[in-house]
Amino acid sequence: MGVAQLSRRRSWRARAVMIFCLWGLLSLSYAARLSPSQQKLEVQKHLKRLNKDAVKSIKSPDGDIIDCVHISKQPAFDHPFLKDHKIQMRPNYHPEGLFDENKVSNEPKESSNPITQLWHINGKCPEDTIPIRRTKKDDVLRASSVKRYGRKKQRTIPKPRSADPGLINESGHQHAIAYVEGDKYYGAKATINVWEPKIQQPNNEFSLSQLWILGGSFGEDLNSIEAGWQVSPDLYGDNNTRLFTYWTSDAYQATGCYNLLCSGFIQVNSQIAMGASITPVSAYRNSQYDVSLLVWKDPKEGHWWMQFGNDYVLGYWPSFLFSYLAESASMIEWGGEVVNSQPDGQHTSTQMGSGRFPEEGFGKASYFRNIQVVDSSNNLKAPKGIGTFTEQSNCYDVQTGNNGDWGHYFYYGGPGKNPNCT
Ligand SMILES: *[C@@H]1O[C@H](CO)[C@@H](O)[C@H](O)[C@H]1NC(C)=O
Ligand SMILES: *[C@@H]1O[C@H](CO)[C@@H](O)[C@H](O)[C@H]1NC(C)=O
Repeated sequence: MGVAQLSRRRSWRARAVMIFCLWGLLSLSYAARLSPSQQKLEVQKHLKRLNKDAVKSIKSPDGDIIDCVHISKQPAFDHPFLKDHKIQMRPNYHPEGLFDENKVSNEPKESSNPITQLWHINGKCPEDTIPIRRTKKDDVLRASSVKRYGRKKQRTIPKPRSADPGLINESGHQHAIAYVEGDKYYGAKATINVWEPKIQQPNNEFSLSQLWILGGSFGEDLNSIEAGWQVSPDLYGDNNTRLFTYWTSDAYQATGCYNLLCSGFIQVNSQIAMGASITPVSAYRNSQYDVSLLVWKDPKEGHWWMQFGNDYVLGYWPSFLFSYLAESASMIEWGGEVVNSQPDGQHTSTQMGSGRFPEEGFGKASYFRNIQVVDSSNNLKAPKGIGTFTEQSNCYDVQTGNNGDWGHYFYYGGPGKNPNCT
């Protein structure tokens, strides 16, 4: 097949994916105008679509139910293009690293503690199943409508260089990030300090720390793959720190969602559940915990794979979900984001990272260390020309650094409201 033919086929596919998603949205928004009893029925139907039959269910101490769903019954296979998809159980290639993950003696002792998920206390999923956090009725009811559940409320990508300041401040989203752009990127990695930031306004606000893999322009068609940890009472109903992913291929309009809340991501791992609580979290001037996240594009099939920690390859986003990211990413970002939703004009006291400013350093401020990008030869490399961005550095800030053990790193975050941020 010629190159032109290939790209035509790809754009046809992208359009068909869009139509499929729009159809889903339209049918659900119709449901939102129904009477209360009809709406209740619609919520139940939505739950039935989301929650697949489980081989086994495990109750987590945090109240979650983790369903072990047969790998061939996962939400991805509701997608029309995945009906005949043959699951790839492992990536063809793994990026070659700069830092030897097994040489823990190189790293500060406090940060080499393993992070797992809380539900592991109460059981394991059998082989050939994947763990899925069960969506409860209350989860859906907290969303502004059934159709918005599991999706982002606003476009929230920090747009460092050519940012429209008015727009950024208007949406109430605040960031403190490091980024690289101007090259072709095939993945990104970071080891992220894990905290449980306080959320002032549970209905509208969240606090997250993540990496972004971005392709396209910041207009209608931005492609994004995101992974990290978040505290989002709106999405999960509590203040726990949870592993999450997000993807979109049209700047958060019709495609994409958190975790496995729509069809797209294909999970192969039986031990880690998207959206489940991670534990333990770091404490001020006390034990520090961090977790490595790696997202990279398999050079053979072109799918975007994700790894959690050093041991868990979670699965992949098939290449056809994306337009720009079907080729490569043009920008990588790492850092924190919060929503500042205070209606009275006062700044929120929702914390980012540990709730402390970067100046405080290790054990106090939150960090990303060993940030790396994947190049076209599938090698992990130190990022070149790192920039930083924050809307209001008096509320949340970021400071980069570089040394032998941590490679490129940064401290980020802050308390939000304080005498210099009101
Ligand atoms: C956002 O608004 C704050 C307060 O009005 C201002 O100080 C800051 O410069 C703005 N940020 C950007 C990126 O324009
Ligand atoms: C979450 O934290 C907020 C305060 O930050 C508190 O008001 C709320 O009750 C907490 N929610 C739960 C479910 O613990």
